[in-house]
Amino acid sequence: MGLFFTCAQFLMLIALISLSDCYDPLDPNGNITVTFDINQWLPEGYLARVTIQNYYQYRHVDPSGWTLGWTWANDEVILSMSGAFATKQGNCSSFKSPTVPYSCEKSPAVADLMPDALPETRTDDCCHGGLLAAWAINPSMSFSSFEMTIGNLGANPKVQAPMDLTLMAPGPGYTCSPIEDADPTAHSDIGGKRQLQAYRTWKSTCTYSSFVSNQAPLCCVSLSTFYNPKITFCPDCSCGCREADKNTVSCITEGYDVPGSDSFDDIVQCTDHMCPVRVHWHVMKNYFTHWKVKLTISNYNYKRNYSNWNVLVQHPGFSQSTTAYSFNSTMLPSFGLSDEVALFWGIEYYNDELVNADKDQPGAVSTQILLRKDLESFTLGNGWALPRRVYFNGENCQMPLPDTFPMLPNHCSSFKPTNPVFLLLIYLTFINKSSL
Ligand SMILES: *[C@@H]1O[C@H](CO)[C@@H](O)[C@H](O)[C@H]1NC(C)=O
Ligand SMILES: *[C@@H]1O[C@H](CO)[C@@H](O)[C@H](O)[C@H]1NC(C)=O
Ligand SMILES: *[C@@H]1O[C@H](CO)[C@@H](O)[C@H](O)[C@H]1NC(C)=O
Ligand SMILES: *[C@@H]1O[C@H](CO)[C@@H](O)[C@H](O)[C@H]1NC(C)=O
Ligand SMILES: *[C@@H]1O[C@H](CO)[C@@H](O)[C@H](O)[C@H]1NC(C)=O
Repeated sequence: MGLFFTCAQFLMLIALISLSDCYDPLDPNGNITVTFDINQWLPEGYLARVTIQNYYQYRHVDPSGWTLGWTWANDEVILSMSGAFATKQGNCSSFKSPTVPYSCEKSPAVADLMPDALPETRTDDCCHGGLLAAWAINPSMSFSSFEMTIGNLGANPKVQAPMDLTLMAPGPGYTCSPIEDADPTAHSDIGGKRQLQAYRTWKSTCTYSSFVSNQAPLCCVSLSTFYNPKITFCPDCSCGCREADKNTVSCITEGYDVPGSDSFDDIVQCTDHMCPVRVHWHVMKNYFTHWKVKLTISNYNYKRNYSNWNVLVQHPGFSQSTTAYSFNSTMLPSFGLSDEVALFWGIEYYNDELVNADKDQPGAVSTQILLRKDLESFTLGNGWALPRRVYFNGENCQMPLPDTFPMLPNHCSSFKPTNPVFLLLIYLTFINKSSL
């Protein structure tokens, strides 16, 4: 039992350290792809359909939604738009009636319409209030489209792609590649019997970096087990420190009234970790062929509900059949990582909303998870049953350091197993550990 720093824990530590950069090894192909399809030439311009597709497995676009911007290469103006709106009309004073452009901005910014938009302002696949679901969770809600007619390009239009695409979703964090020519988008007609293609297609991909978004950390992980009464709390100052640190969001001691909701700033409950969200992993039970975990997600923010939240957990135990009782779940490809990756999210109308904290307690959702054992690898020793990595809404959560993990106790006397099979298992685990 003296061997605290096993190889697995060392690897875990390396993983923790390497996660501070921007590349996400759990979703290496994730991106938001923006496609401009020219579907028709007009006398002095063209008709374009713009599609924003979220290919991130577990990163969604929250309220207040996406805003797309670009800079025109020439003197283009937007004559009309449906399915979204340009936030500014800009200076259209050089256009005489009857041509009244919709937006003359050199660098327009476009945002989504709400679901209740009037029929005449809509187009197919539009109007989700700027929200994009994560690809692995709800692909049918992971994209949005709008249409615009572009004019003012002269009689022989020299059509050039717009430049400098920007995506706010809703805040900063996304960096978009240059908009470039791509294979024309094809779509089918007559029930799939005839294929149509865009005249011209431009594409850009936008990728997220928490380094660029520069947001305060969002979450931390705490741990507990049935075999040790010790609870491993979130590391102190995971998301900020209670006082000293002036960048920290403001906090309120539990039980006090929260001031009116006139300010939009986040206010969290005062804790040692100061995170708006905490993910707790409790190893509950050890059965003969299975083991059970309770996963609880708590919201310490008094002023924010997390709708459509999701939690990603990396753990080798997910290589076996896994049942989450009160969350929806799926396995994700592990991209050559040694441990499996499971994604959990709420069940519609039941717990898909992680509500704000109130005066007395944080908002919380939880589930029990039953995992089949792989008897080759399963062990309660060395913190094996604890998660390797946890993300909340795509943001990496601060893990406690391995040397603070709840350990199997040294003496069986301090430890009351629930059944004899269980005792035998623990005994075997000890045998195995002492053989290390
Ligand atoms: C964007 O994501 C899609 C889907 O995962 C992938 O096919 C494509 O290669 C990605 N694009 C880039 C530039 O990474
Ligand atoms: C609007 O555009 C016209 C013509 O391009 C220009 O003369 C005028 O100064 C602009 N007005 C403003 C307020 O920029
Ligand atoms: C969160 O959701 C609950 C229930 O839907 C609602 O009563 C509450 O006002 C919401 N809180 C915020 C901050 O939007
Ligand atoms: C689980 O998620 C999938 C995909 O979003 C959905 O089709 C299914 O209805 C969900 N199941 C429950 C029980 O919410
Ligand atoms: C102990 O190790 C043996 C092989 O080394 C393995 O078959 C057995 O499942 C292990 N027992 C436990 C409880 O980990």
